[in-house]
Amino acid sequence: MTILVLGGTGKTGGVLTKLLHEAGLPFLVASRSGKAPEPYKAVTFDWFDPSTFENPFKADSNIDKVYLVLPVAQYDTLPVVAPFIDLAISKGVKRIVLLTALQGEPGSPAFGVVQSYLEAKDIEYAVLRPSWFSQNFASLFIKSIRENDEVFSATGEGKIPWISSEDVAQAAFDTLTTPESIRKDLLVVGPELLTYDEAASILSNVLGRTIKHKKHTPEEQMKAFSQVLTPEFSQVMVDMEVAVAQGLEEKYFKEPASRLYVGKHRLEDYFKANRDIWTK
Ligand SMILES: NC(=O)c1ccc[n+]([C@@H]2O[C@H](COP(=O)([O-])OP(=O)(O)OC[C@H]3O[C@@H](n4cnc5c(N)ncnc54)[C@H](OP(=O)(O)O)[C@@H]3O)[C@@H](O)[C@H]2O)c1
Repeated sequence: MTILVLGGTGKTGGVLTKLLHEAGLPFLVASRSGKAPEPYKAVTFDWFDPSTFENPFKADSNIDKVYLVLPVAQYDTLPVVAPFIDLAISKGVKRIVLLTALQGEPGSPAFGVVQSYLEAKDIEYAVLRPSWFSQNFASLFIKSIRENDEVFSATGEGKIPWISSEDVAQAAFDTLTTPESIRKDLLVVGPELLTYDEAASILSNVLGRTIKHKKHTPEEQMKAFSQVLTPEFSQVMVDMEVAVAQGLEEKYFKEPASRLYVGKHRLEDYFKANRDIWTK
């Protein structure tokens, strides 16, 4: 039996493949290039080329589980993803672990629509709904930290349960490999709640220079996101940041333990282990 890892070259999928390899479990990576780090097996797969959807099943007829990372920064996900989910089930897939986002309630744009589609299917699933990744400080904010000593958001004084992509990968590993029969919606959060001001202050201490949190209005943040994302997806991002400001992620963090998957890695540990990334 084989686990198909979509997004297997990304932040969560890359760690997941390492965990599967260490556990000696068979898996196949799907990537646009058809390549994965040695010695992993990989096939070409592109969400925007449906003719590639059959490739994994042609390469391995034993695929029974899928880790599904949605097309990145895509607003209208369901028309892209639904045909693949249907194909996978028709090929014998029995469990799908879907990565969405903490605020992606079932039916919500971009993320929750795919969750609702999956929940209507007669298969096992886990929906992993992580909070904001600690690793965003090394992707989204790498330039602004290096060049301007700042991060920016419309989250105001709202608290975030920052999660490490390593913990998300561990949640994926656990839900893909559990012998339990599962149909789960999991809120994936880190071990502590921190505002952007607090995160910037921790990073300042680690780097030995002051990193500021520039508090954007929703309009300013919309302008910033629109430079790299479509207007529709930028609006989703801004709405999620405004919801943070209103205390939504703090509320999720306080949900009953049965709804939560709590990661181990603290934001400060991530900053300390990676401090060279932000060196000027
Ligand atoms: N960052 C956050 O704070 C945060 C929070 C919650 C949820 N999320 C969600 O996490 C997901 C991203 O996961 P990640 O961080 O593990 O991935 P990632 O590091 O952003 O990497 C993206 C992965 O998707 C693959 N990919 C990109 N375009 C593709 C395409 N057209 N067809 C097939 N594969 C494609 C890439 O592989 P190749 O380039 O090799 O093809 C890569 O493996 C997104 O859905 C995001 O919304 C992020």
